[in-house]
Formats: sequence, C-alpha cells, structure tokens
Amino acid sequence: TYVIAQPCVDLKDKACVDECPVDCIYEGPRKMYINPDECVDCGACEPVCPVEAIYYEDAVPSEWAGYLTADREIFASLPSPGGAGGAGPLPADHPVVAKEPVKEP
Ligand code: F3S
Ligand code: F3S
Repeated sequence: TYVIAQPCVDLKDKACVDECPVDCIYEGPRKMYINPDECVDCGACEPVCPVEAIYYEDAVPSEWAGYLTADREIFASLPSPGGAGGAGPLPADHPVVAKEPVKEP
C-alpha cells in the first residue's frame, strides 16, 4: 500500500484524490488517509502530491514511520468504508496526526 505522511497535515492539497482509480483516499480533519485494504498500489497518487507526502510503504522516511501505522489503524475501527466518495469525512484523526503541531497556512 501507499501511505500519506506528515507533509499532508494541515495542507490536504487533494491532487492525489483525483488520480486514485479506486477512490481509496479518505479525508480526516487534518490529513488524508489511504485505506490499505482498498489501495491497489498503482502509484498514480505519489507523483502528483506537491509536497511529496505520499510514499510506498517500504519507502516511508524513518522519521515518519508512525504514518504507516496511522493509515492502517484509522480504518481498523471503521466498518469497511467501500470508497471515499460515499463515506464522507472520517470523524477524527489518528493520534499520530492529532499530536502534530498545527501548521500555519
Ligand atoms: Fe495530501 Fe498531497 Fe494528497 S498534500 S491530500 S497527499 S496531494
Ligand atoms: Fe490510489 Fe493508486 Fe494511490 S490505488 S491511493 S492512486 S497507489
């Protein structure tokens, strides 16, 4: 799966959402999340992010390793959402994201 790391926090450019053929990029309050059960590893999202927030799971920089856990765990407590378009925003961010200092625009 691909993972969305720290540069997305408080930015949420969403260029990635338009590229995903399976609609598996979900919106949280402060970050977008890729559902690992739905991502088909096509890689289309990765090059379009203007802040290079998206990485293949094996390539997530070590300082952002917690984001691999975040994208996995945020969906563990939800019933299978089955596509971001119909799901609406996630109710809360993962604690890894919530504890990031707020970035000013
Ligand atoms: Fe975030 Fe980049 Fe997508 S900032 S919403 S991962 S295009
Ligand atoms: Fe979607 Fe492909 Fe990225 S399935 S999340 S665009 S790797």
